[in-house]
Order: sequence, then structure tokens, then C-alpha cells
Amino acid sequence: MSGYKYGIAWNDSYRLGNDQVDHQHMQIFELLGKIATSCMEGNDSACLNETLNFLVSYTIRHFDDEEALQISCNFPDLLRHKQLHEDFKVTVGKLVKRYEESGSSSDLSNDVNKIVVRWLINHINGEDKKIGEYLRNIQN
Ligand SMILES: [Fe+2]
Repeated sequence: MSGYKYGIAWNDSYRLGNDQVDHQHMQIFELLGKIATSCMEGNDSACLNETLNFLVSYTIRHFDDEEALQISCNFPDLLRHKQLHEDFKVTVGKLVKRYEESGSSSDLSNDVNKIVVRWLINHINGEDKKIGEYLRNIQN
């Protein structure tokens, strides 16, 4: 079904060709989808809280792994890429702060989904794929 009000369906075009990173990206999509589904079934506040907690913990771990990969292969754009990750952590931090200050609202819930989904897709397609390209070039 075109079921999710929020969340993102994984699409193989998001692959960059590194199994660990692709697997984690897939995991993020899947978990966001699951959380989105539970959001639709009611309990919006718990759901928003869960989404934010997940984003904070999983994305930080994922960014660490991605940056470790970039260091291990001497990816030339590492610093700029790391900065993009840091900026996203700040963005998520602001969403968390909004939740802590004002609790759940459909505005916040919409913003979380819009901002996070848009960022993820743009970042994977525009930035993470450059790592995949670089890895293919140095392996050839
Ligand atoms: Fe990245």
C-alpha cells in the first residue's frame, strides 16, 4: 500500500555499493517506516518521542561508522561530509528541544518527518553516493 503517512520506502537506487552503509541506511528507512506506522495508529506523543530518540541514537552511531569508513579509505571530502553530519545533529537537536519544550503536536510531527526524510534522501543521493563512487575508483 502507499500506506505511510510519513516515512520512506527503501529503493535500490539509494544504494552506494558499500554493504555496511547500505545496510544501515536500509535499517534507518525501515525503522522510520515502522515508527511512522505506529504514529498513524494513535499515540502520537509516544511515537514522536520514539522517533526522536531513535534518530538521535541510531544516526549518531551510523555517522560514526560512515566517518570511520571515510577515514579508512582516505576519502578526500571527509571534513566537509562530517560537517554535514554535525549540521544534521544540530537540526535534530532543535526538533528534540521543541518536543521537550512544547510536547507533541501535529506540526512538530510533520516537521520531523518532512525534515528528516528530505535530508536523508538528499544526503544519501547527493553525498553518500560520492563515497561509493570514490571506493569504486580506488578499487579499480
Ligand atoms: Fe553521510
